[in-house]
Amino acid sequence: MNTSAHAIVVGNEKGGTGKSTTAMHVIVSLLKDGFTVGAIDLDARQGTLSRYFANREATAHRRRMPLPMPERAAVMVSDDPEADREKLFAILGDFAPRLDYVVMDCPGHDNSLSRLAHNFADTLITPLNDSFVDLDNLADVDPETFDIRKPSRYAETVWEERKRRMLRDRGSVDWIVLRNRLSQLDAKNKRRVGEVLERLKDRIGFRSAPGLSERVIYRELFLDGLTLLDVIDAGKRPDGGVELSLSHVAARQELRALMDALELPAKPASGATEPVAAKAC
Ligand SMILES: Nc1ncnc2c1ncn2[C@@H]1O[C@H](COP(=O)(O)OP(=O)(O)OP(=O)(O)O)[C@@H](O)[C@H]1O
Ligand SMILES: [Mg+2]
Repeated sequence: MNTSAHAIVVGNEKGGTGKSTTAMHVIVSLLKDGFTVGAIDLDARQGTLSRYFANREATAHRRRMPLPMPERAAVMVSDDPEADREKLFAILGDFAPRLDYVVMDCPGHDNSLSRLAHNFADTLITPLNDSFVDLDNLADVDPETFDIRKPSRYAETVWEERKRRMLRDRGSVDWIVLRNRLSQLDAKNKRRVGEVLERLKDRIGFRSAPGLSERVIYRELFLDGLTLLDVIDAGKRPDGGVELSLSHVAARQELRALMDALELPAKPASGATEPVAAKAC
């Protein structure tokens, strides 16, 4: 369809913020919208995304269920950053000219592969648990006044990679911070985190968007490799499947809102003609 895929990177140098869960749901949403997608697991040692898709394949086989799949690849970080880099370039060189989107799931810490992915991002999604522990990765916040003292570690990584990208091809990154696992209960904390994010977004250059609420279903679906969208589709099947609850419907709406908030190009990478790998510095 296009000569260069739109690159979506899901990253945060903090572990357990919902990167792989978000990546999985974004990938399946895109597939269900009819796009072709390449999924790259850059946290292959942990392998959550790879395992998620292996489970999905097994479920499709076991239940004879047609489940859309992306093209898949994984890179494990080694002690040879140059070799890792070459591996990622080779994958991007293969995927980018053929597919609409490439989605990269990063590890919850800084390494050379994760940096490289950030350098290629057209859209960067950073899920953040709705807590000051996670926010600390983006900004140093005064505990008394909630003023922002300075941007912190991960914000600096993104800033550096944005600069490098700008110097390389004048490209820009649309950075979206998602508030993941939003709880209905903790109203005071939620409001405070929201206020700090609101003040921070112009300073370090991101858009904020609501992510996924805290729901047990997101944890349960992993073993079958399913997403909320598959469950909802199964519920519509004439041969039975899962009964849809109000919670499923609300979750479906919030996933749609998340996808809308990403403002992804309907036809990816308009005007881009070179494969992602060719854009490497
Ligand atoms: N919206 C949600 N509601 C409930 N549980 C969630 C939600 N999002 C993620 N989780 C759960 O939180 C845990 C961490 O999620 P996930 O593996 O997606 O995070 P991660 O950022 O990829 O972690 P890591 O940094 O270790 O790779 C998992 O058990 C996952 O099922
Ligand atoms: Mg992960």
